[in-house]
Amino acid sequence: MNIVTLLGGILTVVIAMPSWAGEVSFKSDVQPILNDYCISCHQPSGKGYEKSGLDLRSYAGVMKGTRFGSIIKPGDSFTSIFIQVVEGRVHPSIKMPYGMNGGLAKDKIALMKHWVQQGAKDN
Ligand code: HEC
Repeated sequence: MNIVTLLGGILTVVIAMPSWAGEVSFKSDVQPILNDYCISCHQPSGKGYEKSGLDLRSYAGVMKGTRFGSIIKPGDSFTSIFIQVVEGRVHPSIKMPYGMNGGLAKDKIALMKHWVQQGAKDN
């Protein structure tokens, strides 16, 4: 193998790494998704907030959860309702974002999942 092939190989690996290969940040990765797809309904007077009490405008709101309880179990994306609803695993009728055809893009769901998996930190 010559040096050009070697460098090419290394470059490919670096470029192919997903952006969340390191630590996912709530502030710069997760909150922007919530801002774009969730807070229209999940803030006071929004229909998601009115129905569930869930306010997704901040880390504190996400961790507080609905009026029925928390939606995040740090380190466990499988049982976290926050992830279950975007994957449509609770029930098709409460797949989030509510009423959006097809749901969130896979890479966005992956970011949210990794954030929970990494401990749902205020980072
Ligand atoms: C168009 C409005 C709307 C949008 C956008 C929306 N939601 Fe909701 N959300 C609702 C409504 C309405 C409910 C109450 C559903 C019910 O109980 O029937 C709800 C409930 C929830 C619940 C509680 C589910 C439960 O089991 O109690 C979670 C968690 C949730 N939404 C997360 C999200 C996330 C995350 C997003 C963005 C990816 C999002 N929602 C976007 C309207 C919305």
